[in-house]
This record gives sequence, C-alpha cells and structure tokens, in this order.
Amino acid sequence: KAAGASQLTVTGTLALSVFTAVLGSFQFGYNIGVINAPQKIIEADYNATWVHRYGEPIPTATLTTLWSLSVAIFSIGGMISSFCVGVISEWLGRRKAMLINNLFAFIGGGLMGMAKISRSFEMMILGRFVIGAYCGLASGLVPMYVGEIAPTSLRGALGTLHQLAIVTGILIAQVLGLESLLGSEELWPVLVGVTVLPTVLQMALLPFCPESPRFLYIIRCQEHHAKSGEDQRTTSRSGEVGDMLAEMKEEKRRMDMERKVSIAELFRSPMYRQPIIIAILLQLSQQLSGVNAIFYYSTSIFQKAGVQSPVYATIGAGVVNCAFTVVSLFLVERTGRRTLHMLGLSGMCGCAIVMTIALALLDSVPWMSYISMLAIFGFVAFFEVGPGPIPWFFVAELFSQGPRPAAMAVAGFSNWTANFIIGFGFQYLAELCGPYVFLIFAVLLLFFLIFTFFRVPETRGKTFDQISTSFSQHPPAMMDLDMELGKRSTELDYLGGEGSLD
Ligand code: GLC
Repeated sequence: KAAGASQLTVTGTLALSVFTAVLGSFQFGYNIGVINAPQKIIEADYNATWVHRYGEPIPTATLTTLWSLSVAIFSIGGMISSFCVGVISEWLGRRKAMLINNLFAFIGGGLMGMAKISRSFEMMILGRFVIGAYCGLASGLVPMYVGEIAPTSLRGALGTLHQLAIVTGILIAQVLGLESLLGSEELWPVLVGVTVLPTVLQMALLPFCPESPRFLYIIRCQEHHAKSGEDQRTTSRSGEVGDMLAEMKEEKRRMDMERKVSIAELFRSPMYRQPIIIAILLQLSQQLSGVNAIFYYSTSIFQKAGVQSPVYATIGAGVVNCAFTVVSLFLVERTGRRTLHMLGLSGMCGCAIVMTIALALLDSVPWMSYISMLAIFGFVAFFEVGPGPIPWFFVAELFSQGPRPAAMAVAGFSNWTANFIIGFGFQYLAELCGPYVFLIFAVLLLFFLIFTFFRVPETRGKTFDQISTSFSQHPPAMMDLDMELGKRSTELDYLGGEGSLD
C-alpha cells in the first residue's frame, strides 16, 4: 500500500542510474537559467564583433534581433529534437540514446564557449540551437528512463528528481552568472561552456547503469537481461523482481495484441485520444502558466516592480524554486498527482492576481514592490508543488510501453512550442498590457484548473498497465478510474495479491 514506498530499499544501482540520467535534466535547467544575467555583457561582445567587421556600432534593432534569436533558438532546437524522442529511444534504447545525445552537448557547449574568441555571434546562436536540441532529447529520454526503471511506489518521487535537477541547474546558472563570478566580460565563455562538465560525468557513468528492463523485455524481448536489470535495480521485498516481471509480462501480452502506435494513431484511436489530450494539456498548463516569463525575464520584471536588487531577487526566486520542488518530492506519493497539480494551479492563479493588483498600485503605494516580490516567490513556489514536476513524468505514466515513446514526443513538442511562444512573446505582451500582463496567465491557469478537475485521473500507486487499461475500458468516463482500480485493488487483496495499489 502507500507504505510500500518505505518498505522498498533503493539500491545503489537504482540511485546511480537515476543520478546519472538526471545529469541531463541538470544541463537542461542550466541552459535555461544561464542566459538571463549576462545579457548586457554578451550583447556588448556582439557589438564589438560588429565594429570589428563593419567598422561601425551595431544598430539597436539588429542587436535586439540577434539577442532574441540567441535566447529563443534554444527552444527551437528543443522542439525539433523532442519530436524525435520516440524514434531515437526505440532505435537505440534509452541508455544508448542518452549516451549519444551527449555529442550535442559537446558541440553546443564548444560552439558557445569558443564564440567570443572566434569573434562570431553566429557560433553562439548555433551553439544555443544545438544545446537546445540536446535538452529537447533529454527532456523526453530522462523521464522515460526514470519512469521505466522506478518501482511503482516510487515512480512519482523519482520522477520529480528530473525537475529537481532542472531547478538546481537553473539556480547554479543564476549564481555563477553573477558578475563577480563567471558573468563577467572575460569569463562569460566559461559560463556558457562549462555545460560540458556534467556531460563528461554522464558519459563516464552511463556504462554502469542498466538499460531500462521494460525496454529490453517488452520491446526487445530479452527476458534474461530484463530480469538481471531488475535484480540490480532494487532489492526490495522478496518477490519484487518477480512482481515487476509479471507486470511487464502482462503489459507485453497486451502490447502483442496492439499494432505499433504511430503519432498519427495516438490521435485517431479512441483508446489513446483521451490520454494524449490530457498529456498535451498538462504540458501546456506547465508552460502557459507563465513560469518562464519569470525565469527568462525576472531581472527586468523585478526592476519594473521597483525591487532594489533585482539580480538577488532573481536568485531568491531560484532558491524558492528549488525548495518547493523538494516539498513536492515528499508530497507526491502521499497526496497524489492530481491534487498537487490542482493546488499548484490555483495557488499560481491567486498569486498572479495579487501581482497584478500590486503592480497596478505601485505608483501610489510604494511598498507594493514588496508585495509583488512576494507574489512572484509564491507563484514560483506553487508552480513547483505541481505544474513543474508532474507533467514531465505523468505522460510516461499515462501510456503503456507501445504508445509511450510517441506520446513523449508529442508531449515534449507541445511543451517546447509553448516554451518558445512565452520566451519570444512575453516581452511584447508585457509592453502591450503593462501591469495587467499576468492577468492573462491567471485566466489560463483557471482554465487548466477546471480541465484538471474534470479530466485528469490519479495515477499514484497504479501500474502502467492498470492506468492504460482504465482508458481502454472507459474511454469517455475517466473519473471512473479510481473506482475501477479501487475494485481491482480489493480483488487483489482478497486473493492475497502483492499489488501496490492504494
Ligand atoms: C519546468 C519547465 C521549464 C521551466 C522550469 C522552471 O521544468 O519545463 O521550462 O523553466 O520548470 O523550474
């Protein structure tokens, strides 16, 4: 039962595998956060290059375009590569795909690190594109691998580690980006180039991590390897390995009856349509909540809100971001995904409204700057309670082995597209709406809250197979999921089964 989590012993191999995988998530976060603080300094270098080439200073409009491109091309790299996650992870396997993905990190980090010395902003922009491609693949491969190697009772907690690594990456990038550290005129190439360090570490450790047993058994039919992977992964209650194998066998039996699932089929088949819509909307709820407006532009938002040291306030937001991801890590197996997601969305909606009021009153009531800072911290905190971590691993949970890779690709693509829209569009929106810009997010958040309430099922403690079966049995009435599984759980108990249901 829920106490199953405490009965499980996490083995060294499971811990090592998860740690190694989330080094990819760390880089994802690092490259989101790294571009915020040193903007002015890198822009000055773009200008110097321009002067060197053409003998005159760069026109302001050209500089703005080059900078927006440097920021946003990262998401375009992510959009393209995340769409290929399905094909690549099936072709190479999860582990080898992560290994080979590191090539992108080397090329991207190398290009960015060498851009200053080569006097080429083209290299910087290309480097951002390539590192974005790395992050797009990592954002699909990591949650898939972690979800597949995790025991059912720890799947949410381990899945949240992906997000924890992302937020740690953001925070470290924010701190290293201070001008007194690496965010200086001479050192910024180091700041953007050190992203290759975790890459080296990941490449050194991946050979010691087992391939996903589900991939080996269900896709590649290697029962023997899958079993030894399971053995290494956890030593838990006796019979856990047997349980997992039995579970995989059932999943495989069902899969053998399914035809191979393409992306188009996800939308056509009534069996997958519901879960794929949920997957896409959850990803959209994460990005269109507006959180990256904060992570890309916080310094200027704090400035406008009259906060005295905007750079430190940005780091403050990074700290709150990390702290609340840890809170979610502990709550997710207790409270459940659906409840936390709804709590997060409603809290964010409330904070967005408070922020709007504070910004609107700023001119007449000066201490409103503190309120708006607190509102931003609250906004970030509620984000990490649910909408930050949950959508990433929820998609892997909603689908069985067959459709999972295609679903991860679609979900990742939706996430990165929305990320691009916010990254590119927020500045224009902010100009257009002034202090009322966060009202747009409040309305969107309310919509996603209502959607989650009516459409998103709870997946905590349920096997992949149970989750997907519930969709195929009750396509239109998803709220029946809990009742149905509750019934099956009682049956299992009655039979003396070892199910990990609640
Ligand atoms: C999530 C989002 C990412 C965002 C981060 C903030 O991982 O996918 O876009 O920047 O959370 O913590």
